[in-house]
Amino acid sequence: MKRLRLSLANQQVEFVDRDLALKRIEDWANRGVAFPQVIYGPEGCGKTAWLRQSTELLKGLGFEVIYVNPVESAFMVKLGITDLRDRLMSLIQEALEQFTWGKVIWSIISIARSAIEAGARKLAIIVDDAFQAIGLDNAAIYVKGLLGILEHPPASYDRVITIAATSEGVSRREIGRHEWADLMPIWNMPREGFKQLYEQLPGNKPDFEDIWKLTGGNPRILERLYESNWSSDAVVRELIDRKGLRTFIESLNVHERELLAKAIDDPDTLMSRDGIPLMNRLIELNLALEIPEWRDLTFWIDQPPPERDPSLG
Ligand SMILES: Nc1ncnc2c1ncn2[C@@H]1O[C@H](COP(=O)(O)OP(=O)(O)OP(=O)(O)O)[C@@H](O)[C@H]1O
Ligand SMILES: [Mg+2]
Repeated sequence: MKRLRLSLANQQVEFVDRDLALKRIEDWANRGVAFPQVIYGPEGCGKTAWLRQSTELLKGLGFEVIYVNPVESAFMVKLGITDLRDRLMSLIQEALEQFTWGKVIWSIISIARSAIEAGARKLAIIVDDAFQAIGLDNAAIYVKGLLGILEHPPASYDRVITIAATSEGVSRREIGRHEWADLMPIWNMPREGFKQLYEQLPGNKPDFEDIWKLTGGNPRILERLYESNWSSDAVVRELIDRKGLRTFIESLNVHERELLAKAIDDPDTLMSRDGIPLMNRLIELNLALEIPEWRDLTFWIDQPPPERDPSLG
């Protein structure tokens, strides 16, 4: 499989690591899936990079592949049936010009069904940043549509894989209410893989250990640090500004501020009767994410997060 060249802080880097996550795609390709796979993980942890590399893998395994990412206006379509390919490409073209990505996302379900009807045997549908273009209210019903392709296909098939990815903790809850999908988390990169990425960045760099501690293996934060000449202060300030943290903190009462201060040292303190309302607000702001309490490999797309380590960023 060709390793993709990706861009990180305007530098070309090679896709690294994520062996387990790619292995999982291979397993799905070999064994098939019973449910749509809804993947969630922290912002910038590397979902898109992995999914784009996965399209390469799936093409190599003989799959027809539809990959779209409305947020990044990115797509990859490998469909044998020319009519369907043209139909999808013209919708994508329109979306590129007029930002009608919602139409593309919805149409993928009927295009996938038509492809199966027309004889496609191995098909992978990957919708990255799936719910932003169609709205969170529609997330569950969209997943139900993906499930319909698997459960009630218009003709028989060998393998159909449907994947939707999101970085929004609120959509995880929305999907989790129903029995329509497998919800799978992916975490930041594991230490060794993250080191390979760090090593690809040119110039003088702080020690890897410091960068690991600051980022917790999140490639987007690595990118931000690199862009700000490794000034963690600048990255933190930018984050405070972008997320409107000052306003958020001002809106809290004294008790909530105490809870927040405790949670910064130990996020698990939010998982208490007192802490849950604040946790919900942090989830809405995408500042916190609920993840499984178990570190077993089966619960995770790639390596599970490192064991509890309060010094990790
Ligand atoms: N395994 C990897 N190898 C090389 N580069 C990577 C890898 N994972 C992520 N990156 C780079 O790190 C940056 C952030 O990754 P990416 O955009 O995939 O995260 P994401 O989880 O999709 O983010 P978002 O939540 O915003 O959608 C990108 O520049 C990407 O190219
Ligand atoms: Mg992404």
